[in-house]
Amino acid sequence: MINFTEPSITDQEKSYVLDALDNNLLSGDKKYTKLCTDWFNNYGYDNFLLTTSGSSALELAAILSKIQPGDEFIVPSFTFSSTANAFMLRGAKPIFVEINPYTMNIDADKIEDKITPNTKVIVPVDYAGISCDMDKINKIAQKHNLMVIEDAAQAIGSKYKGRPCGLNSDIACFSFHETKNFAMGEGGAVYIKNDKLMAEAEIIREKGTNRKQFLHGQVNKYSWYMIGSSILPSDVLAAILYGQLQRFDKILSHRLSLWNKYFDILEPLESSGLLRRPHIPSYTEHNAHIFFVLLNSETARNKLLYHLKEHDITATFHYLPLHTAPLGQKYGCKPGDLPITEDYSSRLLRLPLHYNMTNADVEKVYSIIKDFFKNDN
Ligand SMILES: Cc1ncc(COP(=O)(O)O)c(C=O)c1O
Repeated sequence: MINFTEPSITDQEKSYVLDALDNNLLSGDKKYTKLCTDWFNNYGYDNFLLTTSGSSALELAAILSKIQPGDEFIVPSFTFSSTANAFMLRGAKPIFVEINPYTMNIDADKIEDKITPNTKVIVPVDYAGISCDMDKINKIAQKHNLMVIEDAAQAIGSKYKGRPCGLNSDIACFSFHETKNFAMGEGGAVYIKNDKLMAEAEIIREKGTNRKQFLHGQVNKYSWYMIGSSILPSDVLAAILYGQLQRFDKILSHRLSLWNKYFDILEPLESSGLLRRPHIPSYTEHNAHIFFVLLNSETARNKLLYHLKEHDITATFHYLPLHTAPLGQKYGCKPGDLPITEDYSSRLLRLPLHYNMTNADVEKVYSIIKDFFKNDN
């Protein structure tokens, strides 16, 4: 059996969790949250806050953007519901833009046409940990005075032009969900470029109070300043993440070696025109979050999924376009609006990729795929 994804938990994570439990580090913003935050500060994210999920990181970002009913935000349709939910919860309307068929990310050349006087935010998504074309997107944002909130949920460990993903946006949101490269079960984070917004975020994240300043001895009592929520994760979960961060390079390099093995071994099938491998633009170093292939038709994709399943290999498809989903259609979208998104998402298949896999597992997956095509599929 080769699972599509598996968390990798070692004695290191277990010992930190026990320490958190033994030392009453149950609620948020304690020792392990601080250790994780320091780690990310060192890594390059100077303003960094852990959150309860990637979704709540996006919701915090949406609050910070001051987006409101009547406003619009630009977003790819090929993404997770959370990317759009966060801004729709503030009453804003999603404006879906096509993807680039090589990266599966928002097509930066198609953004400007969708900007109206109501547009407030551009929300690019780094699919599979492959960065969007941030210089192009930022140029458009600057020209139209828009905020850029990057959904980098899948992109911890990825880089854009040599810098960690997210640093080129006003705000970036990350996920440490169980399925991500670095996991804490449920969890996430935001990076916030502007110091004033960072100060606001600290208040919003703590139920709208300046409790954090109080805990740090900066004020002698704390009070309610803004409309906020509870967006800080338990230190027990941060303890898991801290364990994962101790193995950051090891996890990243092992995933990359599996990804590269898939890429090399599948070359003959691409040369024969049977499938297409991911395309990595020269401006990005990716984090091997997902290895996907594009089949020639939806039927071929579904048949290969089934064939792999029959051989105890769990592969999966990915996002169903948001604009054709029932809610997308309530917002006036319809099938046919974004033909590239619809076509490519119907042909995309993700292969198993996780830290517990070996090169032999990749070879096994390959042999099953090869066998599928041999039988005239
Ligand atoms: C692109 C994208 N955005 C947001 C999220 C939400 O993250 P979380 O599951 O941590 O809430 C995900 C989760 O898979 C995602 O893939």
